[in-house]
Amino acid sequence: MRFTVAIDGPAAAGKGTIGRRVAQRFGFAHLDTGLLYRAVGAKVLAGAEPEAAARALTPEDLSGPGLRTPEVAQAASRVAAVPQVRAALVDFQRDFARAEGGAVLDGRDIGTVICPGAEVKLFVTASAECRAERRLAELVAAGHDIGFETVLEDVKARDARDTGRNDAPLVAANDALVLDTTTLDVEQAVAQAIAAVEAKLR
Ligand code: CDP
Ligand code: CDP
Repeated sequence: MRFTVAIDGPAAAGKGTIGRRVAQRFGFAHLDTGLLYRAVGAKVLAGAEPEAAARALTPEDLSGPGLRTPEVAQAASRVAAVPQVRAALVDFQRDFARAEGGAVLDGRDIGTVICPGAEVKLFVTASAECRAERRLAELVAAGHDIGFETVLEDVKARDARDTGRNDAPLVAANDALVLDTTTLDVEQAVAQAIAAVEAKLR
């Protein structure tokens, strides 16, 4: 069976958490496409040229423990505005999406550019302050010495860059179900996402 769930939305909205849970529930594969851009961003911070770094990406590059920092997130958002970088990553994402057995992909342009024909599209969002609080809690739990204002700045700067770029800007697809998680806990958001998939599988 081929079945694609596309999850898009701004930074730290809960895309990955919902994506993982939906994938678990239905036995689908899950790809956090932000990791692709973070891995390219990390290579550029280390001196690589953006397009070359994107073309040379390997699965091992995606498991680096240092990819979750705000510095790498900013570098990811800068390389993500380069059309040649995005183009180099398209085939891998589309192949993943159409693999036998179902797939969930989360990012910024999955429902609009990568998989416009996805069976289910979700746009997950929340207020910037709420998203920054959640991301701060994750970073502190992972041992980072960082404050709320720094995280909020990262979130807002990336939202502005991701929404404002010409190539594959962050925007909800016309046919996406919008999930505003500002007042939803994880279980409530996951339940709504699962219901949307079930409705299409029936
Ligand atoms: O993938 P994305 O950056 O959109 O967000 P995430 O890493 O999945 O989620 C950020 C944090 O928000 C995680 O620690 C979640 O547990 C938390 N959270 C959520 O995802 N959804 C809610 N409704 C409430 C909290
Ligand atoms: O986890 P969080 O939502 O904070 O970010 P991410 O999903 O890891 O994405 C990092 C950056 O990669 C984003 O700010 C975007 O600039 C870029 N990105 C993108 O342009 N397109 C995607 N499909 C996924 C990520």
